[in-house]
This record gives sequence, C-alpha cells and structure tokens, in this order.
Amino acid sequence: MSRSSPGGACRARPTEHLSPEPESEPHVTLAATDFYAAALQSAGTRSADETWFVHYENGRRYPLAGALDRWTGQADEVDLGLLARTRGTILDVGCGPGRLAAELAHQGRHALGLDISPTALRLARRSGATVIRRSVFDPVHGEGMWGTVLLADGNVGIGGDPVTLLRRCRELVAPGGRVLVETERPGVGLRTTRIRLERAGEASDWFDWAHVGCERIADLGADAGLHLGEAWDQSGRFFAALHRPH
Ligand SMILES: C[S@@+](CC[C@H](N)C(=O)[O-])C[C@H]1O[C@@H](n2cnc3c(N)ncnc32)[C@H](O)[C@@H]1O
Repeated sequence: MSRSSPGGACRARPTEHLSPEPESEPHVTLAATDFYAAALQSAGTRSADETWFVHYENGRRYPLAGALDRWTGQADEVDLGLLARTRGTILDVGCGPGRLAAELAHQGRHALGLDISPTALRLARRSGATVIRRSVFDPVHGEGMWGTVLLADGNVGIGGDPVTLLRRCRELVAPGGRVLVETERPGVGLRTTRIRLERAGEASDWFDWAHVGCERIADLGADAGLHLGEAWDQSGRFFAALHRPH
C-alpha cells in the first residue's frame, strides 16, 4: 500500500546501516560504462564470487546485487504506482535496461528511454522499450514538450549536482508537466560524492553522484524552478512529483 501527501510521506525514521565490506585496492580499472555493462550482463548468472559493489570515496562499500536485480527485472507494484502518476509523453532519463520504458510501451504509452550505456540500451530494446543513446545534458528531441520526465532508481544523483539535473529536466518538460523523482529515505539529506563500481580486483573510474533524501527534494526542486505537487512512499521507496508551472 502506498501513502501519499503533499510532502507528508517524508517523516524521520531510524537510519538503516549497511555493513561496509573490508577495503582492498583493485588492480584493474575500467570505464564506468564498460563496468556497468559487465554488471548488467552478469544479472541472473552471478556466482558467489561475482559480487559487485559500489564504493564511495569515503571508503564505504555496499553490495549492488539487489539494485542490479531490480534494474534488470520487470516493473513491480511500486514501479506501477510511479508510472500511474505519469501524464502525456514520457522521457525516462537514465532508463538503464528499460523496465519502466518497456512497461510503458506495453501499456501503449508514448515513452522514450534515454541512457549513455549501449549495453543497457540493447537490453532495453530487447524488452520492447524505445530508447536512444544520449546524455540528458545533450540536446534531446521534444525539448520543452514532454509531459513527464522520470528520474527513477536514484537517477536524481546523475552528474552529482541535483539542482543542475533538475533544471535540465525543467527544460525538457512542458509547462504544466511533471518531473517524477525517486528519492531516498528521510535523513539522507543531500550528499554529493564520487563513486566507482567494483568487483574482485577490478574497479571502474570514479564518477560524480548524489543522494537526495525525501526531505530535501522540495527545496532542490524550487531552486530548479519546480514545485512539489505530491510526495509518497511505498514499500520503503520514496518519490516526489515536481511540477513545472504553466
Ligand atoms: C542507477 S542506474 C538506474 C537504471 C534504471 N533506471 C533502471 O531501472 O535500470 C543509472 C542509469 O543512468 C545512466 N546515466 C548515467 N549518466 C547519464 C547521463 N548523463 N544521461 C543519461 N543517462 C545516464 C546510467 O547509464 C544508468 O543506466
């Protein structure tokens, strides 16, 4: 069941702590997109020694398996709750292997997934999504005319500067349109960092990322010219609908 209110879904909760894995220096580094490609391709076939991690510049390291399984799976009930709030044409920014864009296509909606990873896009096309290889910061067709822009699965962290990304989404969405953002649990605040992906002796390049707790999305949206229409949470995931004024 989901709970929704204009900002009320975001209440302080006990902080969840994941145990960081012991640190060891990798011997091989790869471009982040290549590393991500290998991680996506391993989904469903991983053995115990094929554990992928996301490593933060402060030294903490967390397993990526749950996220990889979600990205490469099908839209679940929580995703459907998010998609039910889309309006008009939909641009799925950082669509990954495309479970949301594919679900929208199956629903007969006009949706385009956008990503920089060729492997993710290949998987997305295979599941029926319409996608293009493009950075969100590069020109995209239909600028200022999309009914909804999606930033799901923590994609508000793309580029490491949420206000810059939200401003870009404001340019993409039509007046009166909405940017649907998945945020994180209360208490996360705004954390900008550099991360890399790792697996047994290998690591990707470092890249900029950000984490946004649900309590910060209204003010970050306001800085980008978007106002909070609704905030909701469902099964431990947190979301906000930011609206571009008419
Ligand atoms: C956290 S994953 C989310 C995956 C996706 N939403 C899913 O369900 O599988 C972030 C995604 O953003 C993509 N990405 C990173 N930087 C991007 C950019 N500048 N423009 C578009 N996509 C980008 C990555 O390639 C990756 O697929």
